[in-house]
Amino acid sequence: MLPKIKPHQTEAWDKLERHYKKISETHLRELFADDPDRFNNFSISFEDILFDYSKNRINAKTISLLLDLAEECKLSDAIEAMFTGDVINETEGRSVLHTALRNMSNEPVYSEGKNVMPQVHQVLQQMKQFCERIHTGEWTGYTGNKIKYIVNIGIGGSDLGPYMVTEALKPYWKKDIQVFYVSNVDATHIVETLRKVTPQETLFLIASKTFTTQETMTNAHTARQWFLEAADDESYVAKHFVALSTNEKEVVKFGIDKANMFEFWDWVGGRYSLWSAIGLSIALTIGYEHFESLLKGANSTDKHFRSTPFENNIPVIMGLVGLWYTNFFDSQTEAILPYDQYMHRFAAYFQQGNMESNGKSVDRKGKPVRYETGPVIWGEPGTNGQHAFYQLIHQGTLLIPCDFIAPAISHNPIGDHHQKLLSNFFAQTEALMNGKTEIEAEAELIKAGRSAEEIKALVPFKVFTGNRPTNSFLIKKITPYTLGQLIALYEHKIFVQGVIWNIFSFDQWGVELGKQLANNILPELQDDKPVSKHDSSTNGLINTWKKMKSE
Ligand code: F6P
Repeated sequence: MLPKIKPHQTEAWDKLERHYKKISETHLRELFADDPDRFNNFSISFEDILFDYSKNRINAKTISLLLDLAEECKLSDAIEAMFTGDVINETEGRSVLHTALRNMSNEPVYSEGKNVMPQVHQVLQQMKQFCERIHTGEWTGYTGNKIKYIVNIGIGGSDLGPYMVTEALKPYWKKDIQVFYVSNVDATHIVETLRKVTPQETLFLIASKTFTTQETMTNAHTARQWFLEAADDESYVAKHFVALSTNEKEVVKFGIDKANMFEFWDWVGGRYSLWSAIGLSIALTIGYEHFESLLKGANSTDKHFRSTPFENNIPVIMGLVGLWYTNFFDSQTEAILPYDQYMHRFAAYFQQGNMESNGKSVDRKGKPVRYETGPVIWGEPGTNGQHAFYQLIHQGTLLIPCDFIAPAISHNPIGDHHQKLLSNFFAQTEALMNGKTEIEAEAELIKAGRSAEEIKALVPFKVFTGNRPTNSFLIKKITPYTLGQLIALYEHKIFVQGVIWNIFSFDQWGVELGKQLANNILPELQDDKPVSKHDSSTNGLINTWKKMKSE
């Protein structure tokens, strides 16, 4: 069980509130001027990853108070509780052991008294052998053709992780395999995907922890029907459909042979499941060895997180600095900005990771929290974002802490593209920090030959306050290993914050209500009879839809 400590009633929180009053008046320019060694003092190297958090509105005292907060909230105990399989997902009565999925040692890991490692290794072995059979062409489709297309049908955690990772690792794709992801219940998603593949050469992975999710099951049935229209024999389904799930009963009910099921377990949260059988599309696309490197990378982060003193522990510092803004600066949002086109789904992936985990307003005793919890997470790759929303980050009224992520070495070293990309990466955090003063803006306009009157009119618009915080991650190269490391850093950041906010980060009851109501409404959409049992807006919308579609 996790400790149930109210963070805002700790001594450290009080001190942080007082400290905030002083430091909120201080500009990042001054903090840099006061400490010539600031970069060294506020950056951490971890293998091929550099984490620079010096451009944050913090000083040594801030970090020391934040570390006190972590201690008062018993973060160390919480970390051990997670790694050792305590039932920390209390509302669902489960351990939280995605770290066991990438435990490369023979060390046992227990969930409810049972060592989970033999089953983890067994499924990894099953995945490895399956990948070999697909890649060598030993496993063929019903006409004897090699499998060329992988279609992963899943949603949320059963889609976002594998999709993000396969996109981020495109340079590692097997030559003869193409992967597609179908998630939306909007028929367009499956229809447009099926246009690009052939029934003879496609393997469908039905990825669903519960195997009851409406979107996934609907898409899976549509895919099965499409396949049978060509194959015309139910027995061929076994060659083209496999299941990634915890629910054997439902898998068999769907018509997938038990032998073609890749199992995982209820101690793997959906949004933390890319390391499990849910990662099969990754292994099939980049090869099992690369999938294993991804796991190894994540495992190296796990070790770092579990054993590094907090002051040098990247996920701990990420979590604490993020919380500093959320709870003391009242910032309500954070941006994740990868300067790597292949990582274009990274922010979307961590939108679920963060917001489904820490979007909670009740504490671990079931009482309403009296402070802010999870921020809104969003982002796009640089430099596209620069030409879309950076204006607001630079000159808007909101304070938006940003994470900048870039590889030192590009997979596509053509001309000076990468230098240009990185010049933007470096320039943006510098600009956000320094801003532009009135004097600087004036000098620029004088140099441009503007009249005194023009200068007076234009200066207010040309001033940038700066003092806008950023973290920078510089990663030697995006490989399966470093990507695994990076994902795990962000996962543990979420954990750190959830522990301190005294909330449960591994359930997601908030997704249920909408699902329940949609299930109630679905039968009402099957005929043209007007409905009247909802509020006037919902009735009005449904009845107008009924009229519109039959006009
Ligand atoms: O969105 C709610 C949720 O339960 C997520 O947590 C999960 O990742 C997703 O639905 C998909 O669930 P499943 O893998 O069971 O289909």
